[in-house]
Amino acid sequence: MTPVIEALLERSSEPRLQSPAPDQHTLDKAFACAARAPDHALLRPWRYLVVSGDGLAKLGELFASTLGAEATAKARDKLLGAPLRAPMIIVGIACHQPHPKVPEQEQTMSAAVGMGYLILALQSAGFGAMWRSGPMASHPAVIEGLGLASHELITGFLYTGTVVSEKPRVPRPEPSSFVSQWPF
Ligand SMILES: Cc1cc2nc3c(=O)[nH]c(=O)nc-3n(C[C@H](O)[C@H](O)[C@H](O)COP(=O)(O)O)c2cc1C
Repeated sequence: MTPVIEALLERSSEPRLQSPAPDQHTLDKAFACAARAPDHALLRPWRYLVVSGDGLAKLGELFASTLGAEATAKARDKLLGAPLRAPMIIVGIACHQPHPKVPEQEQTMSAAVGMGYLILALQSAGFGAMWRSGPMASHPAVIEGLGLASHELITGFLYTGTVVSEKPRVPRPEPSSFVSQWPF
């Protein structure tokens, strides 16, 4: 097994995260890995926002601002606290550019692959990560509050930090259950 295959086979999302968050050197390397995502026509259709420190509470306020006046205090507290589940959140953004051969869907896929590489790089550096989306990822108030342009969309919120306790192992499907030869 190569180290890369080993890292892939060990990859697991980790929801229970605490400080410290990845340091700048780790982040620099991880983003360099994300930029290795296959990318039709080299459009570089992605960018990232790093949120930590006071920014996490601000992100919670932005999430809570999506609630109407009728919302319960419980619902508000849940959104306020959501970003505090990790010491750092990396917001993945797909930046669509008009191109005659590269539809938006391909550009989103490229940005999503970058998120995957980012997770792997962070895990290989000893940090945990979990890719989340939920209704906040597509809410207009969140999109505007994070400063996205009309040609951009949120690929996800990557929660990252130091693993408190590892998630129980998730059963992984056997390749034979999802791979077949064609023609049948
Ligand atoms: C685009 C995307 C969005 C996701 N959003 C959420 C989410 O909002 N909440 C959640 O619990 N898991 C979400 N997941 C799934 C987790 O990141 C994770 O993959 C899942 O819990 C399975 O764990 P594993 O990665 O260890 O297999 C999302 C995954 C992807 C690819």
